[in-house]
Amino acid sequence: MESIYIHGGIALQGQVRVQGSKNAVLPVMAATLLTEGTSTIGNCPRLKDVYHMQTLLESLGCVTARDKEMLKVHAANVSTLRARDGMPEDAVRGMRSSIILLGALLGRLGEVRVEYPGGCVIGERPIDIHIEALKKLNVHFEEKSYGFYAYSEELRGTEVSLPVPSVGATENLILAAVRAKGTTVIRGAAREPEITALCEFLSLCGADIAGTGSATLIIQGVERLMGADYAIAGDRIVAGTYLCACMAAGGEVLLKEAPVLQMRETLAAAIRMGAVCQETEEGLYVQMEERPKALKRLATAPYPGFPTDMQSPFLPVLSLAEGECDVEENIFENRFHIVPYLQDMGADITQTDARHIHLRGIEELTGRRVLAKELRGGAALTVAGVAAKGVTVVDGCKFIERGYENICRDLRELGVRIYGV
Ligand code: EPZ
Repeated sequence: MESIYIHGGIALQGQVRVQGSKNAVLPVMAATLLTEGTSTIGNCPRLKDVYHMQTLLESLGCVTARDKEMLKVHAANVSTLRARDGMPEDAVRGMRSSIILLGALLGRLGEVRVEYPGGCVIGERPIDIHIEALKKLNVHFEEKSYGFYAYSEELRGTEVSLPVPSVGATENLILAAVRAKGTTVIRGAAREPEITALCEFLSLCGADIAGTGSATLIIQGVERLMGADYAIAGDRIVAGTYLCACMAAGGEVLLKEAPVLQMRETLAAAIRMGAVCQETEEGLYVQMEERPKALKRLATAPYPGFPTDMQSPFLPVLSLAEGECDVEENIFENRFHIVPYLQDMGADITQTDARHIHLRGIEELTGRRVLAKELRGGAALTVAGVAAKGVTVVDGCKFIERGYENICRDLRELGVRIYGV
């Protein structure tokens, strides 16, 4: 799909099932590399990043099979020789999450050849914290022309304090520590639900992890991990995106399997803006009858704070809200790519610096041709199109497809006139 066409301005009505979480399934898939049996991952979303990860696992000797929402990974024969050959470059560069194979392969084979990962253009996204943390576990790094080679004769547990609660660095440390000798204490760990999912899966495989969900994880290394069955929760950012579409265009929707408990700050912001949000047995019920009310301030923060991934989808809603709002991006340094496109659609937004914008709400956005440059920004432009009067065309949809199984199908279920070409 290259472009999305949206005839916007119609209130939403209907129900849709929210896909499984991208950012939870990828580290769980990486963790299967540490096991010597078969794992079954349920509610596995059909996404490019998942296919890339599947390709990477197979290149390392895993056998994978998909049956509808279920992915099986058999990891008995992960091979050092294959790992030394390097992994398919397209898949490595295609996604940021290839970097968590670093911890998993160190845990399984004691060595790994890493090409620099790809990902969204939302900031520098260095991996210095991953490297410094793993060095403490007795991992050595050698710079190579392709990236770097990392190895350890023996992973050794120790105390590691992360300078910022990096999601990826926490995942890498966990993946290495579960197979290290002795105890690893990770202080300042990220607490995102995706980290909890990884810890839950590894615990089912036989890992000894205390403090799951907290900023201090205590991990006792074990000799062997076996495969396990694990179901991935609904994607909190996809659910949040559809919540924003309903808030921006008005209406009433049921987001089935939305992980309500993981969405506390997102829902708190939505409720302050006038949305009715209720947890039901099936998921999240949302009703938006009036024009949204502006928040005074919206600032992103590590979990359990307001998620950086929800910042972009909230911008079209705030553009249409009654009142003014300051938005502060505290996680990534380059996450306001969509501002010029929203301005072109009529939004009144002033960008103060790379991390701050000020919005004055207007009554109506107008459909325009816009360009997605990264995943959540692309989804946010789609949300803007759903609310805007007239036709919006969103180009660059390959970015959106990295995180949304089928955003057009899902929004059509909610009554939006939208199609992809
Ligand atoms: C994860 O990225 C998510 N990606 C991101 O979602 C999400 O926005 C982010 O966490 C924050 O919640 C996946 O899970 C695949 P970080 P990650 O390490 O792990 C800096 C999406 O749209 N940093 O927590 O890369 C970094 O530059 C994606 O689905 C260093 O300086 O995020 C950033 O400013 C986008 N050095 C901050 O820390 C390092 O070594 C947080 O990054 C590592 C990170």
